Amino acid sequence: MSKRTIVTLPGDGIGKAVLDETLKVLNAAGFDAEYVEGDIGWEFWKSEGNPLPQRTIDLLEKHKIALFGAITSKPKDEAFEELAPELKEKNLIYSSPIVGLRQHFGLEICARPCKTYTGNPLNFIRRGIGDAVEEPEVDVVIFRQNTEGLYGGVEWSNPDDKVYDALMSHPKFKKNFGKVPNEKILRAAFDYAKKYAYKSVTLAEKPNVIRETSGMMYKMALQMQKNDYPEIELWNTNIDAQMMWLTKNPENYGVIVAGNMFGDIVSDGFAGLIGGLGFACSAQWSLDGVAVFEPTHGSAPKYADYETSIVNPIAMIESACMMLDFIEEKAIADKIRKAVAEVITEGKVRTYDMMKMRGTADVVKKGAASTKEMAEAIIAKL
Ligand code: NAI
Ligand code: MG
Repeated sequence: MSKRTIVTLPGDGIGKAVLDETLKVLNAAGFDAEYVEGDIGWEFWKSEGNPLPQRTIDLLEKHKIALFGAITSKPKDEAFEELAPELKEKNLIYSSPIVGLRQHFGLEICARPCKTYTGNPLNFIRRGIGDAVEEPEVDVVIFRQNTEGLYGGVEWSNPDDKVYDALMSHPKFKKNFGKVPNEKILRAAFDYAKKYAYKSVTLAEKPNVIRETSGMMYKMALQMQKNDYPEIELWNTNIDAQMMWLTKNPENYGVIVAGNMFGDIVSDGFAGLIGGLGFACSAQWSLDGVAVFEPTHGSAPKYADYETSIVNPIAMIESACMMLDFIEEKAIADKIRKAVAEVITEGKVRTYDMMKMRGTADVVKKGAASTKEMAEAIIAKL
């Protein structure tokens, strides 16, 4: 078989550090690939006025699969300030390149697993009956519709008259307008539940209030479950109640499916139970085979300039494992996951977040592992 080519998109801030270490882990695990780096992020906004240059889109068009670190986004005024002087006259508007990638390639299915590692000191703990202390085992995968809804970019701060009139023709336009969700995200969630033997799919939306969009999603989910997945239970929760339930009984949930914004929120909620941003990974793909794998965290600019990188690379490494699953290199993915689990359970090597330290530059001196040392510990277990 010919070598695979993977597009790497390190982006900004800590994106590069976590991606570099992840590539070392992939190599050490025996994944034989060629990597081509794509330009993305704040630097390209500043120097070219475009954080997602066409040449990067072309690369992904060609190679289909990308590992993405993180990008920095800043508010409108700051974005303008930092533009190169010669670009300031050009009326350029910044928009997030990761949202741009999702929309350009139709990466509408986003999966975000949150799984407890035994021995992770950041695991969620609660009080049970008779004052017992319980550490529920979380194994949840959130399916987030990745391109529509409130994140669709269809918004106006000062709409022209035609738009305004059209919106006005809806009796409730001020609060409710948007696209009707399609069914692909539901199908992906049910398929995943079936493939990996989860017993339930939970729709976490708000059909009692957002009656047209959430309501339609629920109606479609009911139909789909009945026709195609009778062996899987369909649960329906309201997003607000779901945020409460996830701390009371997270072990009850399996696959969760939601629209763009609710999926974003509920996935961060579950991520908090399994250790937070240092552990939260994600995959996003289109139905025609383009896929981008990224940690849920951002570029953490506070830590970007430390001489020794201190952030946890596990979220990025786990995202790379999702990539390996996707391209049918499951054996290598499992090998890496096993090594990660061993390092966490053993508890000798821990990044600052796992030691509940503040992320100051001297954490390594105080006994925390650096990004590189964590990756090396994982490699040593392979
Ligand atoms: P962030 O995720 O970059 O950082 C928040 C905090 O989480 C950090 O200060 C740090 O304490 C912790 N953290 C993040 N990653 C960690 C890791 N690997 N290990 C240990 N601790 C970690 O979010 P923030 O500060 O809200 O945003 C910073 C920049 O990142 C912004 O410009 C934002 O727009 C961008 N961003 C980009 C995303 C992406 O590339 N997909 C996603 C989220 C934010
Ligand atoms: Mg988010």
